Amino acid sequence: MIPIAKPVIGEEEIAKVIEVLRSGIIVQGDRVAEFEKRFSTYIGSRHGIAVSNGTAALDIALKAIGVGEGDEVITTPFTFVATSNAILFQRSKPVFADIEEDTYNINPDDVMEKITPKTKAVVGVHLFGHPFDVRAILEICEDHKLMLIEDCAQAHGAEYNGKKVGSFGIGCFSFYATKNMTTSEGGMITCNDDDIAEKCRLLRSHGEVRKYEHVLLGHNMRMTNIQAALGLVQLEKLDWMNEKRRKKCRILREEHKC
Ligand SMILES: Cc1ncc(COP(=O)(O)O)c(C=O)c1O
Repeated sequence: MIPIAKPVIGEEEIAKVIEVLRSGIIVQGDRVAEFEKRFSTYIGSRHGIAVSNGTAALDIALKAIGVGEGDEVITTPFTFVATSNAILFQRSKPVFADIEEDTYNINPDDVMEKITPKTKAVVGVHLFGHPFDVRAILEICEDHKLMLIEDCAQAHGAEYNGKKVGSFGIGCFSFYATKNMTTSEGGMITCNDDDIAEKCRLLRSHGEVRKYEHVLLGHNMRMTNIQAALGLVQLEKLDWMNEKRRKKCRILREEHKC
């Protein structure tokens, strides 16, 4: 059987994971902090907040921008279920805008149609590594004072007008085993706003500001040093792995004349 997406794990990843295991510091620690720094630098965002998976990234990002009961969030129906589930977890309503015929991504004209006084945010998805129409969606968000969340779970390294996706609004990445790069399970939030970043950090770890001082209701959605060690090596390989995917895509398209 040919696997649809086999993770590329080499001896370097194995060595780095063993290093963490030998260190004894196997929970969130210095490897996570370094991964956050390197990943956010790669994306071109001020902050990176590593979390336990991509769904957690979406959940925390929505909470951090204040989406709650009774709010509406416009998104695309053509995505993995996690995008809408994260909205439902806030007791808010996912409102589906139609998709574009050529890219299958969220259609800005229909986003406009779906705005109501209850709309709080737009969650666009850069599906299959193809960025949605960022310029048009950003313009709508700015005009209507809506927050933009970019679901980048399938688009690590994808660019829109020369900038990496995840650097425009609040980026939510997944590092699940089938993604462009992996930490086994894992996720990352990228953003440029200091306050939102701080809120995300609190939400991922029981709202803890100092040891046993908890200022808000948070989860345990932390990433471990083991996962981050894997991520640090995978990040180094990301551009190469993306190029390999493109090459295989070119071969398949030529073979099937599509
Ligand atoms: C578009 C999209 N959003 C969100 C997710 C959720 O990520 P995770 O599986 O890491 O929770 C995924 C991946 O499965 C995805 O493809």
